[in-house]
Amino acid sequence: MQGSKKAFDGGSLQEWLRETWDKTWNKANSRRATRYHWGIAIAYTFTANTFTAMPLEFATRLNNVETSAIRELFKLLGKPGIISFAGGFPDPAMFDVDGIREAVNAALTHEAGAALQYGATEGHNALREQLAAFMQGKGVQDLAPEGFIVTTGSQQALDLLGKTMISPGEKVIVEGPTFLATIQCFRLYGAELISAPIDANGVQVDQLEALMAEHRPKFVYLIPTFGNPSGALLSMERRKRVLELAVQYQTLIVEDDPYGDLYFNDAPPPSLLALSAGVPGSREWLAHCGSLSKVLSPGLRVGWMVAPPELLAKATMCKQFSDAHTSTFAQATAAHYLKAGRMPATLAHVRKVYAERAQAMGDALRKELGEAIDFVQPQGGLFVWARLTGAGGAAKDGAEFAKRAIDKGVAFVPGSPFYASNPDLSALRLSFATADVARIREGVERLGHAL
Ligand SMILES: Cc1ncc(COP(=O)(O)O)c(C=O)c1O
Repeated sequence: MQGSKKAFDGGSLQEWLRETWDKTWNKANSRRATRYHWGIAIAYTFTANTFTAMPLEFATRLNNVETSAIRELFKLLGKPGIISFAGGFPDPAMFDVDGIREAVNAALTHEAGAALQYGATEGHNALREQLAAFMQGKGVQDLAPEGFIVTTGSQQALDLLGKTMISPGEKVIVEGPTFLATIQCFRLYGAELISAPIDANGVQVDQLEALMAEHRPKFVYLIPTFGNPSGALLSMERRKRVLELAVQYQTLIVEDDPYGDLYFNDAPPPSLLALSAGVPGSREWLAHCGSLSKVLSPGLRVGWMVAPPELLAKATMCKQFSDAHTSTFAQATAAHYLKAGRMPATLAHVRKVYAERAQAMGDALRKELGEAIDFVQPQGGLFVWARLTGAGGAAKDGAEFAKRAIDKGVAFVPGSPFYASNPDLSALRLSFATADVARIREGVERLGHAL
């Protein structure tokens, strides 16, 4: 029997049992081996009946969603020495650990009971007050703490929008390209996604209007400021037009805004939320999602959603069934952090560091890849969105190039999964957030070798 006992290595249990049964058949020459052999036979019969005859049947809504191709790529990132431009994470070195530690201490010293207890689904009052003031500082004049709910990251706000607004088969307009998790999330609720084209100035409003007129969508989802993955910045003129379209077509616009604070030089135009005060009626057709993830810490999972009262009430009801409320401890911590007045210095620091890295990446791409790549230098956010031109016979397909790049020790995300339809196969997304300037230069040099 020696040698026939290959350990079960996590593959198909049934395959392993069958293989082991075959191998032990001829070797059953001792009592112990015979017992082992028949034990395997019984286990095989049991698993065959249990796992094959009754496969788990999942909800049909999952048929619309696939595991993202990006996740598959992330599995390769463990390779030693790889320089990654693939993630969408902020740099952990940017986390204001001292400030957050002080905020944790303040929460436990001044309100341990509330910070460690169940809380209101709408959010911790002290945090809602701080966030209202934070948004006021960005031009949102008329926002009361009751005008929004705190969510578990802005991702939950998007999920609540899907849950409350989308019935199977309904249409939703998104940008092409857009945030991958939103594509997955809205599809989970059965949405038919329609892509509106964008350029460096954000969604092309004439095309958006034509699509709204043709499809009469349930809502339009936009990332107007430094989009993920596009980095695009919706111009002031287009912002006003989007708000007018919301009123004209009586259609909800969802503004997802986790990157608006991450600008490098000039501040971007005000958010749609801030501008809605100047476009009569538009506030009733606007939902706005915000987040502390990209500027303070994604681990806190503090986001929020501003929306018309009826939508907010439905979303609050759905949140109750989902997680009851966002961690009171995280909310109290965030409230104390904002109250301590540390945010402006933190923002100034992250803007400066990311601006240097964005510049370094842009310069290196121009130097190392030249004509083979086309991109607009980002003015904020975390990403360079680029297209391979194929100039001089260089790589033209983003997915193919990603594989070659990993072989050369550098990773990025190909662009096609970010499209709900008609993907641009030559596109790629490079994050400049987590590598320092020297690593960015080194990584882009490796990209040049992979061309
Ligand atoms: C456009 C966009 N929206 C929403 C989110 C979700 O962020 P969080 O749930 O951490 O607030 C992200 C995160 O990458 C994002 O890029």
